[in-house]
Amino acid sequence: MSLAIALVLIVVASVLFHFLSPWWFTPLSSNWGQLDDTILVTLVITALVFIAVNLFVAWSIVRFRHRPGRRAAFEPENRRLEGWLTLVTTLGIVAMLAPGLYVYSDMISPPKDALVVEALGQQWQWRFRFPGADGRLGRSDTARVSADNPFGLDPADPAGEDDVLIDAAELHLPLARPVTVLLRSRDVLHNFYVPHFRVKMDLVPGLVSRLWLTPTQPGRFEILCAELCGVGHFNMRGAVVVAEAAEFDTWLAAQPTFARMRAAPAATEAATGPAALAAQGRALAQTRGCAACHSTDGSPSVGPGWRGLYGSARTLADGSRVHADDAYLMRSIREPAAQLVQGYPAIMPVTALGDDELAALVAYIKTLGEAPAAADEDAARRAPNGGTPR
Ligand code: CUA
Repeated sequence: MSLAIALVLIVVASVLFHFLSPWWFTPLSSNWGQLDDTILVTLVITALVFIAVNLFVAWSIVRFRHRPGRRAAFEPENRRLEGWLTLVTTLGIVAMLAPGLYVYSDMISPPKDALVVEALGQQWQWRFRFPGADGRLGRSDTARVSADNPFGLDPADPAGEDDVLIDAAELHLPLARPVTVLLRSRDVLHNFYVPHFRVKMDLVPGLVSRLWLTPTQPGRFEILCAELCGVGHFNMRGAVVVAEAAEFDTWLAAQPTFARMRAAPAATEAATGPAALAAQGRALAQTRGCAACHSTDGSPSVGPGWRGLYGSARTLADGSRVHADDAYLMRSIREPAAQLVQGYPAIMPVTALGDDELAALVAYIKTLGEAPAAADEDAARRAPNGGTPR
């Protein structure tokens, strides 16, 4: 009897939780209200089955409880009942799957006049590419990827010359205009997901997948990677900024094209001096995903922390000791597995960085090593192993 009461309570609590919980969908900011409808259909069907099954079990426990002198009748087969259960289950599953297939086929069939943008994923960052004035994206090939050519574009393809390259995790889109998002991965599986837009799609190495949407609300929306892609997965984030068409056009016109980027690969060096270099390194640590695994405040992290790292003595996996100078840091970034620090797994991916980018990162790490001693002690108190080798 207590089991029956527990089941009824679970049903009541589940229904109450659904209506009273603070966890609702984020406000819809695209044309994909149909996706919410399909989720609602699935929720209602599974909820009805959940309630019916649990109440039936509770009822059976009471109705057929043990009574002295009564024996259960054995009924090995009931064709009528099996027929009904098969039919009802089939209808329920079809009702859950059919709307989803219908919406999915719509979601991957963009309208002809849609704006095109490519989202390029890699561990653990996002980049974006627009086709430029000719409306065509240039040929790309992962084999061509380098520090100066992060999209792997083919310089021989004239269609790629005017491609607009966004080497950052921020994508701007015009309001109320359909946009096709082509998805490409440089390494492993990732997933492009913007909760406010409802749409999500895997990035599959070797394939170009796609989806389309029309932003219906201006604002800034988070892009999340929704496919476990390594230790930095949680930090593979970005943003979509939706604005009026004029504002979007102004932004797009200010972004570099492939031709311009090739003509002036050292444009980032415009700002000189150690402070500017360190600031550039700090920005790189964010955009290149370093910050996902390397803490800068002395707290423990997946990889060795950067606070107080420069100039310190390091014990390597083989027991030898090295001094963390410029050469050591550069080599550790270029060849992560070459001088593995004791206590840390060999999981750091190789990131293509230009010489100037490498110098900027090292300059930034240097500034973290020159922190006042008091701050270091503070950090050490908070985290006993202080990001130094365990
Ligand atoms: Cu990329 Cu998770």
